[in-house]
Amino acid sequence: MYARAVAATATAILGTAALLSPTSDALAGEVGEPTVVAHRGASAYAPENTLASIDKAAQLGFSWVENDVQRTRDGQLVVIHDDSLRRTTNVEDVFPGRAPWKVKDFTAAEIARLDAGGWFSPAYAGTRVPTLKQYMRRVEHNHEKLLLEVKNPKLYPGIEQQTVRLLGNEGWLDRRHLGRLIVQSFDADSVRTVHKLKPALTTAYLGTPSVAQLRQYARFSDLINPSYGSISARYVSAVHAVTGPHGRRLGVFAWTVDDAASAWKAAGYGVDGLITNRPDVVRTALSTG
Ligand code: G3P
Ligand code: CA
Repeated sequence: MYARAVAATATAILGTAALLSPTSDALAGEVGEPTVVAHRGASAYAPENTLASIDKAAQLGFSWVENDVQRTRDGQLVVIHDDSLRRTTNVEDVFPGRAPWKVKDFTAAEIARLDAGGWFSPAYAGTRVPTLKQYMRRVEHNHEKLLLEVKNPKLYPGIEQQTVRLLGNEGWLDRRHLGRLIVQSFDADSVRTVHKLKPALTTAYLGTPSVAQLRQYARFSDLINPSYGSISARYVSAVHAVTGPHGRRLGVFAWTVDDAASAWKAAGYGVDGLITNRPDVVRTALSTG
């Protein structure tokens, strides 16, 4: 089923890697096969958004990982999905009087004391919430590629400038690294800001704008990354028909695709990437579909 869909859209898909990357190989997956991105790391198998989760992705043979970036009370960038520490750490035990345990209300030193792995499995007890700096160094060490999400940017004024500055300080804004990096957000203003700050960066808008709106988004976003349940083959074709800020057609990375049937469905739409908690399941599906 997937192979037939690929054949039907071969012309479009064959050009994906070359068309989308402003500098080098930002989206270079196998020709005809969507890039598989480990969502929050390989988060079905290790605690999400931790160094363990990107180590796990690397062990499974995946190079692209996704994360979520927010900011502490004292201005440190940290990697965590929720705006509260409650679900993915033991913050309620360590700081019982600090409800609702918002990330923005805790210092980096306080967050560094928390266990971000025990909730997932005793095997991961003692895992920490990484700072973005620690995280970027592990991505580099693992030779991975990063889909970095600026999460809840309205809570953190200036987080785009701060993130771009950190990426530069860590050496991720040179030509070689730009080919391994995409910055995305659900907040269009945030994506636009990142694009203006560093036009060479590949950017993505998270959501499903109407077809009529696509040209507006294409001024600052190289990809449109929608929920796979919100799209169709026609929608993906409409996105592909629009030229992005680097003179290349827009790409589509769909989320969160965790089973074979969904992977076949989304791949059949002609998407360029699949964002998944179970990258191994998606890889197997793509090879057997
Ligand atoms: O990368 C797509 C996905 O991460 C968006 O949803 O809530 O998991 O950040 P969420
Ligand atoms: Ca995310």
